[in-house]
Amino acid sequence: MTVWHCYDRRDMMVDALKEATLARIRQTLALNGRASWAVSGGSTPAPLFEAMSGESLDWANVNVALVDERWVDIEHPRSNEAFVRRTLKKGRAEKARIIGMKTPHAHAADAVATVNARYALVPQPFDSVLLGLGPDGHTASLFPGAEGLDEAFDPKGNRICAALTAIKSPVTGDEVERMSLTAVAIKRARHVALMITGEEKRQTLQDALSANRHLPVARLADMVDIEVYWAP
Ligand code: 6PG
Repeated sequence: MTVWHCYDRRDMMVDALKEATLARIRQTLALNGRASWAVSGGSTPAPLFEAMSGESLDWANVNVALVDERWVDIEHPRSNEAFVRRTLKKGRAEKARIIGMKTPHAHAADAVATVNARYALVPQPFDSVLLGLGPDGHTASLFPGAEGLDEAFDPKGNRICAALTAIKSPVTGDEVERMSLTAVAIKRARHVALMITGEEKRQTLQDALSANRHLPVARLADMVDIEVYWAP
């Protein structure tokens, strides 16, 4: 099921999504003493990360794991982990524990066992998963037509992370090799938010959920309850 939360302005959306995320993290911190939040890269989440970094939270016990990664080193300008570290791990969130996906392996496919072992240590289910959406209907690094896509969507699969090789496009850029959370790992989360802005993405999502149901975001919505946060 997909529930839409629509706002007139981006700051209103950011505020609402921040509160929804904080509520889940705080609840689990109070219960277990540690919590986990899986976050996407791209560019849309930047204001949410900035807002979260100003919040008082027991950040040292908050595990912030990447939802997906482009197979580039952290020094690379397109590294999702670097983006999260830059925009979130500062201010009050300085002590947040960031769990990235990149390893020294030359190819994402060679790193699957290592990354899964790393992610097995992150408290799960995730208290919240933050997803983004691409104009091609990809979410996380579940790209249409990617090699490894069916495995990443396998409802009986038991892996948390999967390697994919996307078909090169203006959306992927040069970084076609990816690591991503699998659909089953996302499904286990307590809360899944899809943060999108602008008319184009609203249209992409609406088309995917109606006519283009083969697109990864629609396939995921068939398996997982998704809360869509949208503002123009
Ligand atoms: C990636 C991202 C990806 C992102 C969407 C939206 O590595 O490509 O993690 O899944 O969420 O592409 O990107 P923007 O927020 O930049 O539009």
